[in-house]
Amino acid sequence: MLTGAGISAESGIRTFRASDGLWEEHRIEDVATPEGYAADPALVHAFYDERRRAARAAEPNAAHRALAELAERVPGEVLIVTQNIDDLHERAGSSRVIHIHGELGSALCEACGRRMPWTQDLAGRPPCRACGERVLRPDVVWFGEAVYALDEIFDAVALCEEFWVVGTSGAVTPAASLVAVAAEAGARTALLNLEAHDDVRLFDEVVLGPATETVPAFAAGISRQRDGVGGRG
Ligand code: APR
Repeated sequence: MLTGAGISAESGIRTFRASDGLWEEHRIEDVATPEGYAADPALVHAFYDERRRAARAAEPNAAHRALAELAERVPGEVLIVTQNIDDLHERAGSSRVIHIHGELGSALCEACGRRMPWTQDLAGRPPCRACGERVLRPDVVWFGEAVYALDEIFDAVALCEEFWVVGTSGAVTPAASLVAVAAEAGARTALLNLEAHDDVRLFDEVVLGPATETVPAFAAGISRQRDGVGGRG
């Protein structure tokens, strides 16, 4: 499945494109591009340090938990590709999670290229644990940069039976193109979102509503189906 900011919204983490979204207050060019970082690193560090603190203060919700529980019930069959940089999937108990856009809980050294677990602010320009240089940046994929693990993700999506898209506007590629790969491969596709996308033709099912309601219900349907007790939902 593919998840986005909407799955963490009910945990108090802001989405991007809602009327109260992050991109209402911050220009993408200023805080989510390499050029913006080069122009004003202090501004960018302040932005991600604040988000790192907010993510740490948040708790996984019923949607995160439902996916972790489903993964337990069908071991090895659930892979979460998340656009989110928070760690709520992992804190809910999910172990197979790929962060296609990076993680707040990681720092990237611009001198030696190492990625390392990171929980504190970066604004103070702390030294890299590997090379000692003070050029650590948030390990987040900015616009214009290559995303993480794309080949691995495409390979997995091309083999999946079910592909759920949860809590994302589908505004950003390549993440938004994954449903086409899944549909092409014959997977059953579902959109679980608060709002419908403009184009839902690639989805076999569209379930609108808050993720804390739709995801547990959808996961329960799958489990029943797997247990051979009637259809989904
Ligand atoms: N339950 C389900 N869906 C929700 C909820 C909720 N409680 N709240 C909001 N949503 C839906 C909205 O309807 C919207 O379609 O989540 C979506 C959030 O969309 P965006 O704010 O665009 O976030 P996302 O799709 O994750 O953004 C993709 O864009 O800005 C970049 O790198 C950033 O990873 C991010 C990417």
